Amino acid sequence: MEIKRIGVMTSGGDAPGMNAAVRAVVRTARNFGWEVMGIMRGYQGIFDRDFTPMISRSVSGIISRGGTILKSDRCMQMYESEGRAEAACILREEGIDALVLIGGDGTFTGAMMLADEHGVRSVGVPGTIDNDLYGSDYTIGFNSAVNTAVSCIDNLRDTSDALDRVFLVEVMGRGSGYLAWMVGFAAGAEEILVPETPTDIEGIRRHIEEARSKGKQSMIIVVAEGDEEGNVLELKKKLNLPDPPYEVRTAILGHVQRGGRPSAMDRFLGQHLGYESCVALQKGVTGVMVGVVAGQVTLTPFKDAIEKAKTFDISLLDTAMILAR
Ligand code: F6P
Repeated sequence: MEIKRIGVMTSGGDAPGMNAAVRAVVRTARNFGWEVMGIMRGYQGIFDRDFTPMISRSVSGIISRGGTILKSDRCMQMYESEGRAEAACILREEGIDALVLIGGDGTFTGAMMLADEHGVRSVGVPGTIDNDLYGSDYTIGFNSAVNTAVSCIDNLRDTSDALDRVFLVEVMGRGSGYLAWMVGFAAGAEEILVPETPTDIEGIRRHIEEARSKGKQSMIIVVAEGDEEGNVLELKKKLNLPDPPYEVRTAILGHVQRGGRPSAMDRFLGQHLGYESCVALQKGVTGVMVGVVAGQVTLTPFKDAIEKAKTFDISLLDTAMILAR
């Protein structure tokens, strides 16, 4: 069926670069002669019928802005089959022929169900700071979040060094350690704790004590929130290092990692994938996430993007410890 009108939304946790993707979707779609409806606050905007007609001028000046002009939300009605039926009916009533969804695994799960149950056509654009989606080397927002977290840790390194302290720094990533892995390695952390490997409290304690005995007075330990010891306040208690001589402090970077201006890499990736999502729809492709793997554009079925494991080189966790000695 020929496309005349598409809907575009941002959904789930916002990520720097989402606006670059929105800009590319709107301008590519308009170039194809399609009408574009911006759907506010993710799937919730469908139920609220909160649609905004968008033209090329609607996305002027947003490429460098963090967050998302379409806002985002998590929508409980999409977890119910009745809700999905209502959403599909509203999309038909609004004459929306296909959707471009910028978000993460929760977003694509909803899209997969709308397709399976009601034949709603859609293409996903991976937008999440977690980089936990199979089918693209990176997700939009990941590079910006890495840069933000590394900059925060650089600040912590100054005070950690000044007062000979051990800092336990919790970063986001939900169930994935990918963000912690890259942030920790880039920041020169002495330890990086991720859910993909077991965490040995006693081994960490020994590492801190041995480092101190060899004259290393301060340390940065990066902890993925999804690690089994992902709560740095609890981890500090479990380490139970005597104070004095050890002063252990904690820092939870939290939602700072979600904000800020998108990096050049995320603007580049956001535009590239936003454009490719419309190209895929124009070719009649649906039910896939667009991505870039080893420099090549990829189209990955939603099911694989959600369910297949996104891996990283675990050996760098040991390399980090050697390089931080
Ligand atoms: O999925 C992105 C993310 O930032 C995760 O890293 C984090 O665990 C979660 O969202 C936080 O969710 P919320 O913004 O709803 O607190």
